[in-house]
Amino acid sequence: MNKPLLSCLNGCVQPTVPVWYMRQAGRYLPEYRRTRSTAGTFLDLCYNPELATKVSLQPIERYNLDGVILFSDILVVPHALGYDVDYIEGKGPILEKLEIGGSLPEYNKTRFLSRLSPVFKTLEELAIKAPNSATLIGFAGAPWTIATYMIEGGSSRDFSRAKGWTYADPDSFQSLIDYLVISTADYLIEQVSAGAEVLQLFDSWAGVLNENHLERWSIKPLENIVALVKKSCPDIPIIIFPKGVGIQYTSYLGIDGLSCLSLDSSVPLNWARDNLQKHVVVQGNLDPQLLASGGNSMIYEAERILDIFSGQPFIFNLGHGIVPQTPPHHVSELTQFIRSWKA
Ligand code: CP3
Repeated sequence: MNKPLLSCLNGCVQPTVPVWYMRQAGRYLPEYRRTRSTAGTFLDLCYNPELATKVSLQPIERYNLDGVILFSDILVVPHALGYDVDYIEGKGPILEKLEIGGSLPEYNKTRFLSRLSPVFKTLEELAIKAPNSATLIGFAGAPWTIATYMIEGGSSRDFSRAKGWTYADPDSFQSLIDYLVISTADYLIEQVSAGAEVLQLFDSWAGVLNENHLERWSIKPLENIVALVKKSCPDIPIIIFPKGVGIQYTSYLGIDGLSCLSLDSSVPLNWARDNLQKHVVVQGNLDPQLLASGGNSMIYEAERILDIFSGQPFIFNLGHGIVPQTPPHHVSELTQFIRSWKA
């Protein structure tokens, strides 16, 4: 069975551009909100294979997308490592704050992976239930992004605690990053065993790092994860989303084994075609607010993206996740437009 998204990641231009959307399952869908209301807490939903499978497939049933992304969250990693994680309506995630420079608990791989076993079960279910033409996407957060949530105790505006730690005591910060590299690689390898056909790493807060720190705290740890994963799973395509890094997107091209860069909405299209798409597959990058807004401006920008990128392997996506106020029919309109578009 042909899987356009997988085939594109392996370097083949597709007759119709493959499409999926970050946060394609979520609060903008009424059927998600209904399932969510029966599940208990958000983490209960992430750890319920039956409901997580159902929610992962909801956007596929509506729009027949090329990618099915596992329904979970990047913060299950700190949770499974033993840190408290909670999600508060309207406030986002709240985590037990790490003590700056504090020591880390010993890493127990068996315990860590067994806490995540419901996630693997969801992937196994999805591998059975997803349409044959769809590609199953596993994911994790990048070490820097996960570390910011652990250190700040949640979302942050200025990352003062996390950055403060990197400046004041880089050696102990390195230990935290190494701990996340090992655990994240183990988690991803297990996702592949459970059926994931592609992996995406979200470095949502890479864009706040300066040049040297980007190299040390975003690129290097991602390179280490990719190397570990590729050692066990040499054929798995890996997508990296280093949001907000501007011209430093080119620095990620040096990661051996990288298949695809996911572009945020600020990346200029012609620049990305000439400097990134020559080397790797690219994915992106419609502004999620334009999807929320809809209409001719959305279609105009989608067409500009398709015109510029579709001559080389390209995956249509957004520059960041779908926002909760998005009308679902805008997603149908956009998807139909992409399906009917011809160069
Ligand atoms: O459809 C999908 O994309 C799969 C599921 C998915 C979720 N989160 C579900 C979710 C994925 C891939 C993520 C990734 C994620 N989670 C990231 C990286 C991408 C990005 O947005 O930058 C980050 C930083 C998180 C952390 C996180 N999770 C935040 C900051 C929040 C609260 C804010 C928000 O957008 O709701 C979450 C909660 C969350 N993760 C929800 C969903 C559907 C909403 C929770 C709910 O339903 O109550």
